[in-house]
Amino acid sequence: MPIEYSNREKSYELYRKGKREGTWDPDDYDLEGDKEDWAAFSEDEQEQFLLTCAGFYDGEEDVTRTLAPYMMALDALDNDEMPFDTVQEEIYLAQQVYEEAKHTDLFSRYFEEVFETQDTEPLREGGYQDEGYSTDNLYDTADELLAAINSGDQQELVYALGEAYLNYMGIVEAQLARSGYLSFDQMIELKADEMGRDVVLESFQEAIGRVRQDETRHIENGRWVLSKLAEAEPDIVTDVYEPRIDEYVQNRIVGAQRREMPFEGYDARKIGKQSIQYLQDTIDYIGADRFDEYSDVQRAVQAQRAAD
Ligand SMILES: [Fe+2]
Ligand SMILES: [Fe+2]
Repeated sequence: MPIEYSNREKSYELYRKGKREGTWDPDDYDLEGDKEDWAAFSEDEQEQFLLTCAGFYDGEEDVTRTLAPYMMALDALDNDEMPFDTVQEEIYLAQQVYEEAKHTDLFSRYFEEVFETQDTEPLREGGYQDEGYSTDNLYDTADELLAAINSGDQQELVYALGEAYLNYMGIVEAQLARSGYLSFDQMIELKADEMGRDVVLESFQEAIGRVRQDETRHIENGRWVLSKLAEAEPDIVTDVYEPRIDEYVQNRIVGAQRREMPFEGYDARKIGKQSIQYLQDTIDYIGADRFDEYSDVQRAVQAQRAAD
């Protein structure tokens, strides 16, 4: 046995938390009420809501299918040389991949029963995968991890893992998915207000609440690993993390295309502000003083906007 399970690290504690919190079942939700509510959405509202849901449906499938190499890469690291226990982290990821599969399962059921389609292709063409940073990138990331495993070079492996965790947990989960939840919140609240109701799409909101709880653990574990990899290889922050963060900021914050939203009173600016705070939280967790340009995200964003 390679590790002492009595010496539990963050990853193991999150795994234990997941055993208690992550036991919900997408099949338990009755979707009849949601179907009735859905019929009350206008065509434009349906299109916008579907666009966001399609991003999640595809995204959940993408994260489910690309996580396995992370476990293999951790296993190829020399555990004694690392400032964290790679085996406890593998145990954590084993749980995460199951949870991602369950999230895919939820969207699959919802598309089938409420939206009455499984076809997200036309929605992809509508643009959500073209806005500069998509979950399609995760397949390349997984390939790069496999190449690093085959190289057998420890530093290359640490760098490849750092890039992979930053893409997956640092950007896709901590930034893209979380701004998507804020968008759902606004669309649903505004629609409920318009209809004089407390809530619409109640089962969707409840189930998404469970997904968000799972994702909070994924993000926390991801940040923790990013900080540990920075401890192992301090240059990883400016060599790997910062260029990826910069790419995200250029494409999704500074260069964000605001689309016309059909929901009366929708506030995209509020979501943009919150995403900057999310990014700052990740950077603070890793250690803001390790970064060159992005120790203060708000300031970096303003400087880039002024330069444009
Ligand atoms: Fe997920
Ligand atoms: Fe996740």
